[in-house]
Amino acid sequence: MIRQLEGKVAIITGSTSGMGRDTAYRFAEEGARVVITGRNEERAKDAVEKIKAAGGEAIYVVADTTDLSSAQKIFSAAMEAYGTVDILINNAGQLSTTHFMELTLTEWTQVLNVNVTMAFLLSQLCANVMKENGKGHIINISSIAGTSARWGATAYSTTKHAMVGLTKAMARELGPEIHVNGILPGAIHTAMLDSVGGEAAVGGMIQMSPLKRIGKGSEIASACLFLATDESSFVDGQLIRVDGGVDC
Ligand SMILES: NC(=O)c1ccc[n+]([C@@H]2O[C@H](COP(=O)([O-])OP(=O)(O)OC[C@H]3O[C@@H](n4cnc5c(N)ncnc54)[C@H](OP(=O)(O)O)[C@@H]3O)[C@@H](O)[C@H]2O)c1
Repeated sequence: MIRQLEGKVAIITGSTSGMGRDTAYRFAEEGARVVITGRNEERAKDAVEKIKAAGGEAIYVVADTTDLSSAQKIFSAAMEAYGTVDILINNAGQLSTTHFMELTLTEWTQVLNVNVTMAFLLSQLCANVMKENGKGHIINISSIAGTSARWGATAYSTTKHAMVGLTKAMARELGPEIHVNGILPGAIHTAMLDSVGGEAAVGGMIQMSPLKRIGKGSEIASACLFLATDESSFVDGQLIRVDGGVDC
């Protein structure tokens, strides 16, 4: 069987849980050497062990991305272990459900650091290597909150809109060697969605959706796989909605 990512090195931030972890498992199955990142060492180690038990290759880096020096730490660990980076998925994200008038500068800065500034810094480091290699893929995980603001989620919506702009701007400047695209997930069953009430919290959205359900992390992994391979060779600077067809 031909594996689509044989030998490629993929850094996937926020891959100790949720759609990042599902993407890490899928990429490893397709032959990628995966760099798992997150704050929780136990879950990071567990993800690496599962990948290795299935015959794959992975390392983990414990890094809190509110601390911006984590970009260099993650990049250096990947280079030390594998000597290159072919794919970067900027997936780590922090939800914020604080209303505009209550939002503090501390929370605003923290959410911006995790959701946007970290993606900028890590992309810049990886783009140097990808340019030298003459090829690379960067995939930014935004949200449908990146095209329409969510009530009571000012900082989160702002960062997800920023990821749309960052994707388009990076694509303009990093071609032709590097493809930069993004994904706008709708409601996906992960710990983040569970933290705000799970499926029950998005009942209205499910009703509006033609597919009448929330999504699975594996469905985001499939979209990432498309964007990380030559199957998407003429797709650049795009944000793909993976949202079950909701129009909001
Ligand atoms: N679930 C949805 O419905 C949905 C919809 C649209 C967009 N998204 C986006 O999808 C991405 C993945 O979220 P998910 O739903 O899969 O959530 P999740 O299961 O909670 O996973 C979030 C990941 O991000 C990491 N992370 C969070 N804060 C971090 C920090 N300060 N430093 C380092 N790592 C951090 C977590 O690692 P640790 O816990 O180990 O730190 C975890 O691996 C996020 O960008 C999110 O905004 C999700």
